[in-house]
Amino acid sequence: MSLTLAASGGSAYWYLTRSTGAVALLLLTFAVALGVIDVRRWATPRWPRFVVDSLHRNVSLLAMAFLGLHILTSVLDSFAPISLFDVFIPFVGSYRPFWLGLGAVSLDLLLAVTITSMLRQRMGYSTWRAIHWLTYASWPIALLHGLGTGSDVKATWLLGLSVACLLVVLAAVLVRVISGWPENQRLRGAALGGAGVFSLFLLLWLPGGPLGSEWPRRSGTPSALLAHSAHPSSQKGKKP
Ligand code: HEM
Repeated sequence: MSLTLAASGGSAYWYLTRSTGAVALLLLTFAVALGVIDVRRWATPRWPRFVVDSLHRNVSLLAMAFLGLHILTSVLDSFAPISLFDVFIPFVGSYRPFWLGLGAVSLDLLLAVTITSMLRQRMGYSTWRAIHWLTYASWPIALLHGLGTGSDVKATWLLGLSVACLLVVLAAVLVRVISGWPENQRLRGAALGGAGVFSLFLLLWLPGGPLGSEWPRRSGTPSALLAHSAHPSSQKGKKP
C-alpha cells in the first residue's frame, strides 16, 4: 500500500499526512478564531454579516476536507499501524495511543459540530449552540495531538505554526472577552483563565515532552518501529 517518492526515498503518504495535518490545524484555527470573536459582532457595513458568516462556514468546511485527507493518508501509510478504528475510537491503537487518541477525540467533536450544523434547521437553537461549543474543546485537543504525534515538532516550521495558531486563538479570546465587558463576567473570566492555563501548560510541558529526549519511545511508538530504520522519518534522524 505504500506509495514511494523515488527521488527522496520517502513515503508520499507520510509527506501528505504531515502537510495536510498542518493545513488542517491552520484552517481550524481561523475557523475557531472567527467563531470566538463572534461572527455576528464582527460584521460591519463593509463586511456584512452574510459575508462573515459564509467565510466562517467555508473555512470550517475546508478544514474538514483537509482533515479527511490527513486521516486518509495516515491510514494508507503502511509504516505506522493505524486502522479506521483508531480514527474514530480514541486511545485503542498501538501507535502513540494517547496522542493519536487526542486526534480521534478532536475529530469526533468536530464531526458532531459539523453534522448538527448541517441539520441546524431541524433542531432547537440552544441544542445546536451547546453542541457548537464543543469546537472550543476540539481546538486545544487537536493542537496537543499534533505536537504529541507529529514528526516535525522539533522543526522550526511546525513549532512556529503551532505558536502562531495559539497566538491567533489567544488574541481572539482576548478580543471577545474585552468587547461587551462587564456582561457575563464569570464566563469571560473562565475563558481567559482556561486560555492562560493551557498556554502555561504548553510552556511547561513542551521542553520535557516532545522537545525533550526519547519522545518517540515515551509517547508510545511500538518498539518494533523504534528499531526500524527504513522509514523516511528515521532516515532523516527524526523520530519514527
Ligand atoms: C482536528 C483533528 C486533527 C488535526 C488538526 C491534526 C493535525 C495534525 C498535525 C498538525 C500534525 C503534525 C504534522 C507534522 O508533524 O508535520 C499531525 C500528526 C499526525 N496526525 Fe493528525 N490531526 C487531527 C486528527 C487526526 C486523526 C483523527 C488521526 C487519525 C488517524 C491523525 C493522524 C495523525 C498522524 C499519524 C500524525 C503523525 C504524522 C507524522 O509522522 O508526522 N490526526 N496531525
